[in-house]
Amino acid sequence: MRVKRNWRLIAGQPMTELDKRILSFQNNGHLVPSRELLKTPEQIEGIRQSGVINTGVLDLIEKEIKAGMSTLEINQLVYDYTVGHGAIPAPLNYEGFPKSVCTSINEVVCHGIPSADVILKEGDIINVDVSTILNGYYSDASRMFIIGETTPEKKRLVDVTLECLHIGMEVAKPFSFVGDIGHAIQQYAEKNGYSVVRDLCGHGVGLAFHEEPEVAHFGRKNTGMLLVPGMVFTIEPMINMGRYEVEWNRKDGWTVTTRDGLPSAQWEHTFLMTETGLEILTH
Ligand code: MF3
Ligand code: CO
Repeated sequence: MRVKRNWRLIAGQPMTELDKRILSFQNNGHLVPSRELLKTPEQIEGIRQSGVINTGVLDLIEKEIKAGMSTLEINQLVYDYTVGHGAIPAPLNYEGFPKSVCTSINEVVCHGIPSADVILKEGDIINVDVSTILNGYYSDASRMFIIGETTPEKKRLVDVTLECLHIGMEVAKPFSFVGDIGHAIQQYAEKNGYSVVRDLCGHGVGLAFHEEPEVAHFGRKNTGMLLVPGMVFTIEPMINMGRYEVEWNRKDGWTVTTRDGLPSAQWEHTFLMTETGLEILTH
């Protein structure tokens, strides 16, 4: 198999230690990032500021969310807070998405569209996925919320899914691989009797909503793109109580549900790869 030669030297400049290190992985057949995927300090600061607004939105939703509320009301809170802080909700009009946030309840895996007709009820578990553009910089994070009291089964799904995110985060060290993240998450989810959604991934983020690399939440160690300090990407495992297969809603073009109708959960952060490991930019 031919591997894309992503890493290029800068003409007229001496080879650095970083060049040598990345080229040795590339020459051994690994997928490595292109130089553009390593953010500059200025870009990192911009993404960090975007992340502050994004976290403010999620904190607001955490405070306000309750049974009886419609998902359209959540959408309004997201829109007003984001625009009120000089930012733009990234989902709005993104590839035709009609609202400012994704609200995904119970068997909805992701990309649920807020609606006046969808009312939160006691026992629901909901993912609220918020993405923000500030001064052209993107951040992306989601949390699960439990409405009132839910069943122990659904509570455990929500908790284990958060643990999946933390486990993926812990194994992501500089000069490890995207596949190490997916492998760790898959092991942990399946050990707990759950399955990992295959059709949707985490992603590079920062200068655009979705950049390279794809961050699968399943896979094998030592595969996928090399992780280099300066990369910014999400990890956002979607974990199903039953089987991993999903279905796309053909009418609205967006809503993804589990094929077996069993619940699904998801948590997401935007991370910066540092010299020592991942730093959360959406705390
Ligand atoms: N926020 C999602 C993600 O985590 C993407 C949603 S696309 C949208 O990548 F258009 F539905 F917003
Ligand atoms: Co994302």
